[in-house]
Amino acid sequence: MTTIPLFDLNYGVEEEKAVLETLRSKWISIGPKNQELEEKFSSLLGVRYAVALSNCTAALHLALKILDIGDNDEVIVPSLTFVATVNAVRYVNAIPVFADIRSSQDLTIAPKLIEQAISDRTKAIIVMHYAGFPCAMDHVMNIAAKHNLKVVEDACHGPLSEYKGQKLGTIGDIGCFSFFSNKNISTGEGGVLVTSDEDYQARVKLLRSHGMTSLSYDRSKGHSTLYDVVALGYNYRLDDIRAALGIVQLERLKGDLKQRSKVRHWYIDRLSGMDELTIPFVNHAEFVSNYIFPVVLNNSDYRRRDAIRLSLQNKGIQTSVHYPAVHRFSIYSDCAADLPNTDYVTDNLISLPMFSNLKKDDVNYICSELKKECREPT
Ligand SMILES: Cc1ncc(COP(=O)(O)O)c(C=O)c1O
Repeated sequence: MTTIPLFDLNYGVEEEKAVLETLRSKWISIGPKNQELEEKFSSLLGVRYAVALSNCTAALHLALKILDIGDNDEVIVPSLTFVATVNAVRYVNAIPVFADIRSSQDLTIAPKLIEQAISDRTKAIIVMHYAGFPCAMDHVMNIAAKHNLKVVEDACHGPLSEYKGQKLGTIGDIGCFSFFSNKNISTGEGGVLVTSDEDYQARVKLLRSHGMTSLSYDRSKGHSTLYDVVALGYNYRLDDIRAALGIVQLERLKGDLKQRSKVRHWYIDRLSGMDELTIPFVNHAEFVSNYIFPVVLNNSDYRRRDAIRLSLQNKGIQTSVHYPAVHRFSIYSDCAADLPNTDYVTDNLISLPMFSNLKKDDVNYICSELKKECREPT
C-alpha cells in the first residue's frame, strides 16, 4: 500500500554540502552563518532586522518581553493555533484572552471579536496567519492604533505570504517565524524574529544570549575580550549548522512555494463544489505559502471526522488536525472562552498532505478516497 505522508522534506545535496562545510569550518555555534541567514532573511522580507533564534517559541517569548508585556497584562490571542502562541503569553506572566476565528471559510482571528475582548488591561494582540493566509491586518492595525496596543504576528506558517503587497511578519511591531522541520523553511529546530525597530533588534540580540554584551564568536575574533551581563537573558541561540541549512532553504523557498500553489490548485479542482466540505480561503487570490491544506467537514462532528481520518490512514493517507483548540487544553481551563467557530472547526477539520513534491496522482487518490469517505452514510 502506498503511504502518502502529511509532509516531506525537500532537502537535496545542497543541504548536505552546507552542513559539511560548516562542520569543516570548525565554527559550529552562533557565528557567520547566523549573520548570513539574518541578512538574507531580512532582505527577502524587505524588513530592516531579522534575528535568528533557537525556535519560534523563543521568538514569541522575546517579542512579548521586549514589548514590555508583563504581570497581569492581557494579550488577545487566537485559540486555533499551536499552543506555543499562547504559552508565550504565560511565560511573561500575562493573561491570554481568546478571540474566535471568523468562520469555517476564514480561519483567522476575527477583528470585531478582538475589539470586543479589549479591556483596560489589554496591552497586545498576537495574530496567527493560518496556513499562511493573512489575518485582516488593516482592521487589526486600526484597532491596535485606536487602543494603543502592540501587535505580534505569529507568521510561522507564512514566509513570503503577502497581505495587500506586504510580507506577513512585517506589518505588526514584531514578526515571528519557525524553522521547525515540517515548516516551509526546515532546519530541524530554529526560528527568526523580524522587526524594523532598531532598539527591539538590539534587545532581542542581548536576550538571546544570556544578556551578555558580546558573543563568543566576537571574542574569538578579537573584537571584544570582555563582556558584561546587563539583562536577565536566555540561551535562545541558533547554531551555525542549522543556520547553514536555513540559508540553503531560503534559496529553495520561492520554487518550493510555487510548487505548493500548484498542489493547492489540484486539490481545489478536485474538491470544490462538494456539499460535504468547506475549503477554507478557497477564493483567496494573493500569494501565500500554503504551509498546510485544511478542509472542514460540513454538518459533522468530531466522531465522524475522526472516523474519516482513520479510514484515510488505513488507505495509506496521513492526515492531521491543525489544531486542537488551545482554550480546551487542561492548562488553559481557567481561561473561559466562548468560541463557537473555533469549536466547530477544531472538531471537524482535516489537514491533508501538503508538500512541494506531492504528486498530482497522489492528490487525485487522496481526493477520491476523501470523497468516498465523506459520502459514506454515517
Ligand atoms: C503557529 C505556530 N506558532 C508557533 C510555533 C512554534 O514554533 P517552534 O516549534 O519553532 O517553537 C509553531 C510551530 O510548530 C506554529 O505552527
